[in-house]
Amino acid sequence: MESNVQFLTFIALLVCVPVANGWGIDGHLIICRIAQPRLSEAAADAVSQLLPDFAGGDLGSVCSWADRVKFRYHWSSALHYIDTPDDLCTYQYNRDCKDEDGIQDRCVAGAIKNYTNQLLSYRDHDAASQYNLTEALLFLSHFMGDIHQPLHVGFTSDRGGNTIDVHWYTRKAVLHHIWDDNIIETAEERFYDSSVDELVDTLQKNITSVWSNQAKAWAACTTTACPDAYASEGIKAACDWAYKGVSEGSVLEDEYFLSRKRVVNLRLAQGGVRLAATLNRIFG
Ligand code: ADE
Ligand code: ZN
Ligand code: ZN
Repeated sequence: MESNVQFLTFIALLVCVPVANGWGIDGHLIICRIAQPRLSEAAADAVSQLLPDFAGGDLGSVCSWADRVKFRYHWSSALHYIDTPDDLCTYQYNRDCKDEDGIQDRCVAGAIKNYTNQLLSYRDHDAASQYNLTEALLFLSHFMGDIHQPLHVGFTSDRGGNTIDVHWYTRKAVLHHIWDDNIIETAEERFYDSSVDELVDTLQKNITSVWSNQAKAWAACTTTACPDAYASEGIKAACDWAYKGVSEGSVLEDEYFLSRKRVVNLRLAQGGVRLAATLNRIFG
């Protein structure tokens, strides 16, 4: 009996491990670290009220929470990505924002809209009481990251690159994971002394210098949240950079890494600036 349970656990792990979802831990951490110092006083206040005690006031420490609860909150697993029609390289909310059962609004853009709306009730105690606004904040902060990972707005038949087997230098990998983790990790090792903090510092400096004009445009949004614009950029980056030149069995090494790392840096910076701008609009 006990060995049966162990065997089933082993199989369950085998089944679960290959499909990772979300930027890896560092991607989410970087986006939340970029966002937190950019919050207005009102937004910083609301965030510190809503953060769980175990976060110790650090938004970065809870930005991967949504990945950890995916199995407990099974309904949430479709909210981390958008599948778009194969090879079209476009995104349309009404056409694409649905889960595998075709239920509308169940995708990362729909989730960002939903949690933004929930958080808008923060000031109104009666309205807020129907929601768990701590969870809403953690979900919104995480999904703002996911929507900026190009392959989280990917093609349907390859599940955003999850079924494309390649090599990252000498190791076997799936294309999706290269964009969640490997490009960031390799960049940290080669250029940032293996320190995620140094990468965050560099991105923060770039946002206020070389990217400062663009960064104002990244933050702009005439409603409270603009996930559809980010998803459209995402599938375009997926086509132009992630899928480009890659097929089953491709060996991805320096040529791919060195030409794609600036896209990853840009998406991390945009994700952070936009998370802050969205929270600032929500909390006034
Ligand atoms: N599962 C199906 N499509 C996916 C995607 N684009 N990203 C992550 N997980 C997925
Ligand atoms: Zn992922
Ligand atoms: Zn995720």
